This record gives sequence, C-alpha cells and structure tokens, in this order.
Amino acid sequence: MNKEAYQFNYEVYNSAEELNEQDAWLVNEARDVTSAAYAPYSNFNVAAVAKLVNGEIVAGTNQENASYPAGLCAERVLLSSAATLYPNIAIDTMAISYNNNNGESNHPISPCGICRQSLVEYEERTKHPIRLILSGMEGKVFIIKTAGLLLPLSFGSADLK
Ligand code: THU
Repeated sequence: MNKEAYQFNYEVYNSAEELNEQDAWLVNEARDVTSAAYAPYSNFNVAAVAKLVNGEIVAGTNQENASYPAGLCAERVLLSSAATLYPNIAIDTMAISYNNNNGESNHPISPCGICRQSLVEYEERTKHPIRLILSGMEGKVFIIKTAGLLLPLSFGSADLK
C-alpha cells in the first residue's frame, strides 16, 4: 500500500486593490454583473465574467427556478454562452463574485462540485487552463492558476474510452 498526497498552491490577496489592472477590471465586472442574477429563492447573487484568449468578454449569472433543481449556477451559464458564442475559443481567466442579500459578501467563494466538473471539461476540450479569480463584493481575493486544481482525481472523457 502506498499513501499519496494532494496539495495545491493559490494566491491570496487582501483586497482587489492589490490585483493588476486587468484582473481588477474583471473582478469589478463580476461584482457589477451580480445585479443580473435571478436568485429570488436563495437571495445569493453570483456572477462569473471571463476573458477569452481572443480578448472577448463573456458573463454568466445564476438563474434559479421555482423548481429548484432547474436552477443554473453562474459558472455554467457562462460556459454555455462562451461555447455557443465563441466555439473552440479557450477561456483565459474567469472572475467569480457574489452578493449575498441574506448576509456577508466579504470572502471568496469557489465553484460548486458540478461547476468544477464542467470547468475541467472546458479546460480539456479547449486544451487551455482556466485561471480563476475568486472574491466577494469586498475582502480577500484568491487566484487559482487552473480550475483543474479544484478537482483532483476527476472523472473525464478518457474514462469513457
Ligand atoms: N451558485 C452559483 O451560481 N455558483 C457557485 O459557485 C455557488 C452557487 C448559485 C446556485 C444557487 O442559485 C445559489 O448560488 C445558492 O446556492
């Protein structure tokens, strides 16, 4: 028997003001776009804004539904839009932010399990890492150099061969 370990490094900033201009711009866009979320059930407004490798910007927000499981997360709304509007164009960086109308919005959140699965497949199909910038409306910012780091031992297309 062997024991294996998994660990990854990520960057922690005290606030978005410490980011470079491009990253700070994406974070501010994500914070602004939270107002386009449709989250009347959770009151938890999430937005993702991505810069593609061709320079285009694509956004997504969570879209809930009275039939709760029909709701979609901001990240997967973004991925569906990006794949449709710009097929085969990789995503370079994605900023994810949220505005919690029931509480604080001052610490980073990271993508849910289903979104991690979708992000990893997007990286795989476009053969390009998606750099993540995670934050709330204020406070610390995390930068993770590729979404795949959030899903070790992931299931993927190779397993279906
Ligand atoms: N949500 C997202 O859109 N992205 C995340 O990374 C976490 C959760 C949404 C789903 C649901 O509409 C609300 O936030 C509360 O879970």
